[in-house]
Amino acid sequence: MPHEHVCPWWIGYLLASPIRRLFQKPEKIVGPFIKNGMRILEIGPGMGFFTLPMAEIVGPEGGVIAVDIQDKMLRELRQRAKKTGLDGRIDCRLTKQDALGIGDLRGSIDFTLLMAVVHEVPDRRRFFEEVRSAMKTAGTVLMADPRPYFGIDEFEEALIFAREAGFNRSVDRISAIWRSNSALLTAG
Ligand SMILES: C[S@@+](CC[C@H](N)C(=O)[O-])C[C@H]1O[C@@H](n2cnc3c(N)ncnc32)[C@H](O)[C@@H]1O
Repeated sequence: MPHEHVCPWWIGYLLASPIRRLFQKPEKIVGPFIKNGMRILEIGPGMGFFTLPMAEIVGPEGGVIAVDIQDKMLRELRQRAKKTGLDGRIDCRLTKQDALGIGDLRGSIDFTLLMAVVHEVPDRRRFFEEVRSAMKTAGTVLMADPRPYFGIDEFEEALIFAREAGFNRSVDRISAIWRSNSALLTAG
């Protein structure tokens, strides 16, 4: 069933195109926050533009849990992971729009990537509560949303829910993400 205000599955192919690397380099954007052996959570991975490079960086001792509401995105992501030999490090999970259902991850995540997803989430309060509960204390979250779909006022409003869920906005500099508002959060 189609979800309202959610990126159509076929856009997933465009988002995962290598041409995007000209504007956004995954290693440069997430590299500073990820180390070998880390446990990463990615909500809304699409077809894996960021997932595969993150799985590469965490190595065989680490892993990426990729949670999306669209099975077509996850199916393509699984295929790409298999082709690159990274499937053993990526746990693809299909979820529902109103609840992530990641209670089993409680306190285990070092880094979470929320790339171009928060603007599509209807209940942001609940969303950040679930993400916070999956994080280790002092773990980090990188959140970025495209300006054309999510202006600075909406972005800042979403950050209020993050703060209420127990995240602090970090003053660390993050590399500019093309056409996006972004923030780095620390789980307090
Ligand atoms: C615009 S795409 C971005 C994909 C990817 N992060 C990227 O940057 O290429 C948004 C993705 O978030 C997923 N999504 C939307 N709402 C979601 C929710 N509530 N929970 C999990 N995933 C969601 C969509 O299915 C889609 O794959």
